Amino acid sequence: MSKTILITGGAGFIGSHVVRRFVNRFPDYQIVNLDALTYAGNLENLKDIEQKDNYIFEHGDITDDSFIKNLFEKYRFDGVIHLAAESHVDRSITDPLAFAKTNILGTMILLNAAKELWKDNFDGKRFYHISTDEVYGTLGETGLFTEETSYDPNSPYSASKAASDHFVRAYGETYGLPYVISNCSNNYGPNHFPEKLIPLCINNILTKKPLPIYGDGKYTRDWLFVIDHAIAIVLIYHEGKNHETYNIGGFNEWQNIDLVKELCKQMDEKLGNEPGTSEQLITFVKDRPGHDLRYAIDATKLNKELGWYPSVTFPEGLSQTIDWYLENKEWLDHVTSGDYRNYYEQQYKV
Ligand code: NAD
Ligand code: TYD
Repeated sequence: MSKTILITGGAGFIGSHVVRRFVNRFPDYQIVNLDALTYAGNLENLKDIEQKDNYIFEHGDITDDSFIKNLFEKYRFDGVIHLAAESHVDRSITDPLAFAKTNILGTMILLNAAKELWKDNFDGKRFYHISTDEVYGTLGETGLFTEETSYDPNSPYSASKAASDHFVRAYGETYGLPYVISNCSNNYGPNHFPEKLIPLCINNILTKKPLPIYGDGKYTRDWLFVIDHAIAIVLIYHEGKNHETYNIGGFNEWQNIDLVKELCKQMDEKLGNEPGTSEQLITFVKDRPGHDLRYAIDATKLNKELGWYPSVTFPEGLSQTIDWYLENKEWLDHVTSGDYRNYYEQQYKV
């Protein structure tokens, strides 16, 4: 094996697509997927690659310092791609401490382990931290986030991600740790846990439940197909410059209400419903506290320096996503049983 790479959070939504891409495209890399298998982690996401010779799964928690130290000793990683996190804004509002623990402390424990293992020779080593555009706070009706935009996080989730980004930079400046960071916009696609807007609405259309729209539905997000994100991560891991940040976005802004209407339209076509059937499920509900009005990424740097651009349009990506959920109803049934029901009842008061 030419390299051993640790991918954290590889059983989650984005992580599973990243693990798959590395395992399939780089048979000479040993890929170690470390995941605590929280409610968001699911090894079913990786069934198609779990038997591959260059893939290993390790069950463990990034906040467990001695476990992480031993893991770094055991595999002597050349690189780390860090995705493990608590990732849902609404959960961060009800349980902010869990976000501080995993997203800040967990990242620091990984940084320490990497520094200790690599400190005598940083050549060829890389710590790649996956972050979010939410660290930049909110935009008004115009403008885009660039890599120079100041951090201004508003939710416990984005504050914890911002803190983790700062620690990554600090390890670079203080100890010379070779790092790269990318800040990405909202992802969508197969394997997305149905607590986030798009898969939640797909699941609710299938089960004929209300489609909850926070506030007036005019909030805007920039949607990126998850496989395009995974492609960007592979590129940045190999070709990104040390100590740099890259913004990744879909060049694809939608107000929530318009996006949900587009989703309803595609679902009705695919399910053979009368046009307008699913839209009747749209229900405006109480707003999220501290709700950021608009996120939109300027991904020009990534495009100019590394030649990346999204490969699918939004209607194509959304269609592929819906098809995946229709073909994987068992996956949806598994993840929406048990704990999900309690979460849903608490969050939406049903
Ligand atoms: P996810 O919630 O689907 O998956 C997170 C994974 O991390 C799960 O498999 C979970 O089991 C694992 N995990 C959680 N706590 C852990 C711990 N203490 N130790 C080990 N593993 C743990 O998240 P996602 O949407 O795939 O996001 C992945 C990363 O990308 C996160 O860092 C997130 O902040 C970032 N990001 C996500 C989006 C998005 O739209 N989903 C956008 C930008 C950035
Ligand atoms: P979400 O998928 O939670 O991602 P994020 O908060 O990280 O952007 O939410 C996307 C947008 O959809 C956000 O503006 C909140 C809104 N939203 C709803 O209107 N209803 C819902 O039930 C959820 C989960 C989100």
